[in-house]
Amino acid sequence: MSPFFLNMIHTAQYISSAPDVKACPKSSLPEYAFIGRSNVGKSSLINMLTNQKGLAKTSSKPGKTLLINHFLVNAGRADAWHLVDLPGYGFAKAGQDQRERLKQMIERYCLGREQLVSLFVLVDCRLEPQKIDLQFMQWLGEQGIPFAIVFTKADKVGRERLKLNVEAYKKALLETWEELPPVFMTSSESRLGGEELLAYIEQVNKGLVR
Ligand code: GTP
Ligand code: MG
Repeated sequence: MSPFFLNMIHTAQYISSAPDVKACPKSSLPEYAFIGRSNVGKSSLINMLTNQKGLAKTSSKPGKTLLINHFLVNAGRADAWHLVDLPGYGFAKAGQDQRERLKQMIERYCLGREQLVSLFVLVDCRLEPQKIDLQFMQWLGEQGIPFAIVFTKADKVGRERLKLNVEAYKKALLETWEELPPVFMTSSESRLGGEELLAYIEQVNKGLVR
C-alpha cells in the first residue's frame, strides 16, 4: 500500500449486509456507494481501495452481491465514513422477479438513505455507452442524487482505446446533460485511479458539516 493510500484509509472493516434500506446501519456517518451493472467490478474496487483482498466478495460470475453491504472506514476517528457495496443491476440471467426485487432495493436505498453523500456509478471501460447505465444516470439526475462515474477494468484496454471509449461516453452523456459529473478511470488489477478516487472522497468529506 502506498503511503498516500494509507493517509486516507487507516482501517476498513465489514459491518453488515442488509436486505433493504430499513435494515442498514443506524449511523449518520457520511456514506459513499458503488453501483453499476453486475460484474462491472464494484466489489473488486472496494478491495483495491481498502487494500484488503477478501473484504468484499467478488466473483467471475455476475450476480454475486445481492445485499446492501456496509464497510466502515477509519472506525473511531473523526474522518470515519461508510463505503457501500450494492448489488449489480440488469443481470440478464437473474430472472424478472429477482431483477425487479434488486431494482427496488437499489432505488429505495438511493432515495431513502439520508446520509448518502454520493454514488459512484461504475461502467466497464471496454464497452460502448450502455442504455441501462445511461437510463440509471438519467434517473439519478431526475431524483437529484449526486453521482460520479468510475470507469473500471482499464487494464484490459490500451490507452488509446480507453480514451476513445471514455470520450464516446462523455458525448452520449452530453446529449442529455449540460455538464458532466466527475469522471474517474480505474483498474483494480493495476490499482490505477485509487488515489484519485480516495482523494475525491476525502475532499468531499472535508466539506461536510458534521
Ligand atoms: P456483482 O456483485 O455480481 O454485481 O459484481 P461486481 O460488480 O461486484 O464485480 P466483481 O468485483 O465481483 O468483479 C467481477 C469480475 O471482474 C471478477 O472476475 C473480477 O476479478 C473482475 N475484475 C474486476 N475489476 C477488474 C479490473 O479492474 N481488471 C480486471 N482485469 N478484472 C477485474
Ligand atoms: Mg459485487
